[in-house]
Amino acid sequence: MAQPLVASIDSGWSRTDPSSSLPDWTARLDEIATLDAEVRDAAIGFGAALAGATDLGTLGEIHTAALGRERGALTLALAEVPALPLEQRKTRGRALNLAKKLLTDLAAARRESLGRAAEAQRATDVTIPGRKPWIGRRHPLARIYDELLDLFHGLGYSVYTSPEVETDAYNFGKLNFPPDHPARDAHDTYFVAPRGAASGSGAVSDVLLRTHTSPGWVRAMEERKPPLRLVFPGRVYRAEQVDASHMDQFHQIDGLYVDRNVSMADLKSTLDTFARSIYGASVWTRLIPIHFPFVEPGAQMDVSCVICDGRGIIAEGNSTRRCSVCKGSGWLEVLGAGMVHPNVFRAVGYDPEEVTGFAFGMGIERIAMLRHHIPEIRLFLENDLRFLNQF
Ligand code: PHE
Repeated sequence: MAQPLVASIDSGWSRTDPSSSLPDWTARLDEIATLDAEVRDAAIGFGAALAGATDLGTLGEIHTAALGRERGALTLALAEVPALPLEQRKTRGRALNLAKKLLTDLAAARRESLGRAAEAQRATDVTIPGRKPWIGRRHPLARIYDELLDLFHGLGYSVYTSPEVETDAYNFGKLNFPPDHPARDAHDTYFVAPRGAASGSGAVSDVLLRTHTSPGWVRAMEERKPPLRLVFPGRVYRAEQVDASHMDQFHQIDGLYVDRNVSMADLKSTLDTFARSIYGASVWTRLIPIHFPFVEPGAQMDVSCVICDGRGIIAEGNSTRRCSVCKGSGWLEVLGAGMVHPNVFRAVGYDPEEVTGFAFGMGIERIAMLRHHIPEIRLFLENDLRFLNQF
């Protein structure tokens, strides 16, 4: 005797009413019930299990148990139909075929809705608020550099980079510093090895961190023949007492123009162009004589104060207060400049009777501080995002 049809229904399968998956379930089941009670029970058992399957794997397992080609309970029962007595053969066969069709339809409906659910889970939820992309930005000093290099590129200058670790000869000697100049003292300059620590060659004690970008001129002129039109950007080091406006490392850019008949007038017009481009079209400039060993004549260029418009005072309600940035003078010192000293030309093998040249040098931090009203120079090096994100 064959196994009862319901024997392969696993009691562990979860069960749900199939009507929700297949709307005509009840009507079709009723027809089976009029034909064969056992087939009806099998359809109810497998149907509830198919409807209750929550994943495609379980659904497949149930489908195989009921309708599998070789071991499916209904398949086996159908195979036995021809051996039944005639009157049972008709109703049983019809009931089994209806049940087979019914469960096949139910399994298909279930498979489709489980597939749809899985897809929905994988799909992008367009209602979730977007994530803001992280946008990097240029450091405020790099932005000033970009602007300056752009400006000087337009005036025909190219960039020359030179070492941050220099020798005394390039930082001082060839730039016409006298042997006892105070800048050569360890109080002002970081030496890489203590002076006098040198052995053998004697070179080590002369190695230092450059105190300005001007040594680049010497390297460029030793390497190249005039005419030259170069800018020298980079980091410089000084043994400074650190405070809100002094750091022991900062950035400069020097400029150098050497050719026949370069004059102080050329220098003035170049510096004016620089000042208007960087500080604003309405600033005034003035040159004040000042000594640097490597230029003669030497000058300091001031621009009218960009905070108080050169007035030295700032209106505040009915009264006024002294401008703290220019300390009431109305002027800001922004760079050093001058005509290249003949001794510097001689040191690099240029003939000071043949060529003349001008040079200038300025600090980058100062420009950024005036531009953005930054009161504290140390912020540039601290890499604090609360500061950097403001630019
Ligand atoms: N090198 C000078 C400094 O660091 C600046 C300067 C450059 C002055 C060129 C004159 C000419 O202070």
